[in-house]
Amino acid sequence: MSANGNYPDIPRVDARDKVRGATRYTADHVIPGLAHAMLAVATIGRGRVVSIDTNAARAVPGVRLVLTHLDTAGLQSAGFLMNGGYGFQSLQPMLGAEIAYRGQPIALVVADTPEAAIEGAALVRATYEQEAISVTLDAPGAETLAQADSPLPKPAFADRVVGDAEGALTTAAVRVDTTFQGPPQHQNPMELLATVAQWRQGVLTVRDPTQNAEAVRHGLARVFGLTPDKVEVLSPTVGGGFGQKNSLQAHTALVALAARQLDRPVKLVVPRAQIFHNASFRPASHHTVRLGADASGRMVAAVHEIDHQTSRHDLFPLSYADVTSRLYGIPNFRGRERLVRNDIQTPGYARAPFEHIAVCAFESAVDELASKLGRDPVAFRIANDAAVDPLTGRPFSSRHVAACLERGAKKFGWENRTHEPGSMRLADGTLVGWGVAIGAYKAATAPAIARLRVTDTGGVFVSVGGHEMGQGIRTAIATTVAMELGVPAETVNVAVGNTGAVPQHLTAGSWGSATALPAARQAAMDLSQELQRLGGNGPPGRTPQQILRDAGRPFLDVEARHRAPGQPEAIFDRLSQGLPSGAGPVYPEFVSFSYCAHFVEVRIEPRTRRIRVPRVVSVLDCGRVVSPRTARSQVVGGVVWGIGAALREASEVDPRYGGFVNADIAEYVIPVNADIGSIDVEFIDEPDPVLNSMGVKGLGEVVMVGVAPAIVNAIHHATGRRIRHLPVRIEDLL
Ligand code: MOS
Repeated sequence: MSANGNYPDIPRVDARDKVRGATRYTADHVIPGLAHAMLAVATIGRGRVVSIDTNAARAVPGVRLVLTHLDTAGLQSAGFLMNGGYGFQSLQPMLGAEIAYRGQPIALVVADTPEAAIEGAALVRATYEQEAISVTLDAPGAETLAQADSPLPKPAFADRVVGDAEGALTTAAVRVDTTFQGPPQHQNPMELLATVAQWRQGVLTVRDPTQNAEAVRHGLARVFGLTPDKVEVLSPTVGGGFGQKNSLQAHTALVALAARQLDRPVKLVVPRAQIFHNASFRPASHHTVRLGADASGRMVAAVHEIDHQTSRHDLFPLSYADVTSRLYGIPNFRGRERLVRNDIQTPGYARAPFEHIAVCAFESAVDELASKLGRDPVAFRIANDAAVDPLTGRPFSSRHVAACLERGAKKFGWENRTHEPGSMRLADGTLVGWGVAIGAYKAATAPAIARLRVTDTGGVFVSVGGHEMGQGIRTAIATTVAMELGVPAETVNVAVGNTGAVPQHLTAGSWGSATALPAARQAAMDLSQELQRLGGNGPPGRTPQQILRDAGRPFLDVEARHRAPGQPEAIFDRLSQGLPSGAGPVYPEFVSFSYCAHFVEVRIEPRTRRIRVPRVVSVLDCGRVVSPRTARSQVVGGVVWGIGAALREASEVDPRYGGFVNADIAEYVIPVNADIGSIDVEFIDEPDPVLNSMGVKGLGEVVMVGVAPAIVNAIHHATGRRIRHLPVRIEDLL
């Protein structure tokens, strides 16, 4: 650490490789004898395959194998990640004739070249028995499931209730009663899903871009009836995950099966349109938010009711109200979360999966309430800040919401805002709106094991559970170890995403730093101590390399472990079985969240109503910032995504046929460079005093929370219109 206690702003340790094109992603791997695969998918929304004709596919020159559900005897599903299994859903395609959703794989064609595999897959013909479908929240035939009806464990799918919200609403001086609709959205990481599978002497090696190498490994072991030591998974670099790559994918076992049958390595790169239908996504959700305040402007009651899409085959655990119940110090809160079952693949986590849209609904309502009270939206939020966790009464490990709002307001120049909607026009008639919203996201922690080796040739090798998806975890780990050992960060070799090294817990839920860094730091501290012992009698100021040489030791190894406060030692057994083992936001002694405040300016062209976002100011409370460079980058990415979610993104559904009709990034509209103006990022950078020894919370997801409602609120300020759905488009403002 530098003199002021801050970590240095070092470049990404993998930056040079990335810009030189030296970083190899899964699809870049070429192995001698490699065959190429392509999937054929169902063209009905629900039903079963009656017959499947693969003759034309087999006749394509170069096609070596066509697998269908008739070729999978003896395999079993890896199960659903959120219910004791390892897959993104419990349904493993091609284990039977049933079709649960449009786009479900029905055949895998393998050929000497990708072109032949693609041609073959296009020639697979199936006949089906079709059934009626429901693919939207309000469709007839969609089954709605309340918490009481769910067989899921209650804490995983729980209504959040404190006090008497309905009673307090009745007597509140001022009330708002609002709805909000969130559309389905797809993450679209730049790197496509892909698998390279190879069997050698009964051992399966799989390269697969994943946030959860251990689940891929144990999932494949379960599918093939192998012991986990017969499977290894390598995922050293991932080109974006965002929750889509958090478990075993639908295609991975099929590629491994083909490789076993052909006795050749096989590669599949899943086309974008198929990913829209065969991986998790952010499902549609519908929100009702009712708020009440007393005459002094203190919020006294809130009700937040949510309906959320899931598949027919899986019940997804929800936690929308986990965050909205803690945004403010509201003493009476009732959350209610319901699942609506549709004929879709199981949706899942997508960056701030619940928090982004839950807080969008809630913060829009808060803005409306502040308006009704005639209060400034920043002052109103600060006045309603929480002193302790309203649900449990426990203290927050750290909470700098008010500081985020105050610093953001100052940077943004909020004091120049005029209150009335439509009051800040430019001379040419352009409507200007300034909006604000806060965000929160659980500060979670998972168990981690770190192994550290230093050698007498100056090598430093650290291996720890984690996955590099571009968020910068390698850089943060290297920085942590380098600071502790007093060596340059670029000399630290970091191994992540490798099941052959140490157990690899799912990297998600924004717990990557709070999980890997304390373990890596502990290993470095232990190693420093060992070195001190070893070099005790020698001259001071020697490097680790010199100490080892002087002691005649070629290398020194240590292993350290870290787990969340309150977690038992047995959590490491779950870790080694590839099962989700994260803790938080509620710990035995405290409750832990990261926070942010976003300030947004929108400009709306008076005739076309085109909405632009020329500037955003974001202030983040994520505890200690270990890697300023990559942290800032994460914030910019999250703000861009928030702009996309507010103004562009929706996965379009045709209720007659199912599936998603804009299944590519030409028609699934995301912001381009010209859509993004200034994004000014500031960190509170106060270490959390109790969550872990480094004071780090989480950052990746909280950054996106609150961006969309700040934009929606700014649009109201510009136009006087309260839009109650995302995305907000030109036609909403005509
Ligand atoms: Mo994140 S959506 O928890 O990978």
